[in-house]
Amino acid sequence: MTQKDLLAPSILSADFTRLGQEIREVEKYGADWIHIDVMDGSFVPNLSMGPHVVEACRRTTGLFLDVHLMIVEPEKHIEKFAAAGADGITIHTEASPNLYRTLEAIKALGCRAGAAINPGTPAAAVQPALSVVDKVLVMTVNPGYSGQTFLPEMMPKVAQVREWIEDSGRKIDLQVDGGINPETLPLAQQAGANVFVAASAVYKHPEGVQIGMNSLTRLLK
Ligand code: DX5
Ligand code: ZN
Repeated sequence: MTQKDLLAPSILSADFTRLGQEIREVEKYGADWIHIDVMDGSFVPNLSMGPHVVEACRRTTGLFLDVHLMIVEPEKHIEKFAAAGADGITIHTEASPNLYRTLEAIKALGCRAGAAINPGTPAAAVQPALSVVDKVLVMTVNPGYSGQTFLPEMMPKVAQVREWIEDSGRKIDLQVDGGINPETLPLAQQAGANVFVAASAVYKHPEGVQIGMNSLTRLLK
């Protein structure tokens, strides 16, 4: 099953004094989804944003809002993110002892459900969820910060998950997140990923957001 490649700029590296314009700009240059990184200072060392920011993004754009929950006990918060306007909610397997149940709960809220794995987590952690997920996220950095270096050793894991997705016969997106730039995107694409998150390669591009976006969108299939 061939799935269209999608680009999901992450607002983690955007200028929050002008968040609306930053979102409209990537939309103008071909963003498919807006990726929103939620961090709680426990699951990851950093703190970032919550449902209030999702709600602000919702008022700014009609694009798919892809909410990445890097938080412990995500099941306690999914309802707030759905109410704020999330279209997709991704939880980490490492933070979800009742993974299957929480993914079902996300779907019951009307959102697409994603399961994410950290670099240290084997692909097998998401395999039992393939009958329910809409998306698998294979982290290509240890989560917590933008601007980190892509881990190419995650590519066999991406390829393994892609194989299982094909075997499942279900339409499941395979996303990579962390260190995606014009050099690394093709590696992940070749391994079987079809959704690419990028924060610094878009919002911190030395020649600006338009050039940053174009350098990635031209690689999409
Ligand atoms: C990492 C976040 C990523 C981050 C990516 O913890 O989940 O979405 O914003 O940043 P870049 O693209 O700069 O690696
Ligand atoms: Zn993310």
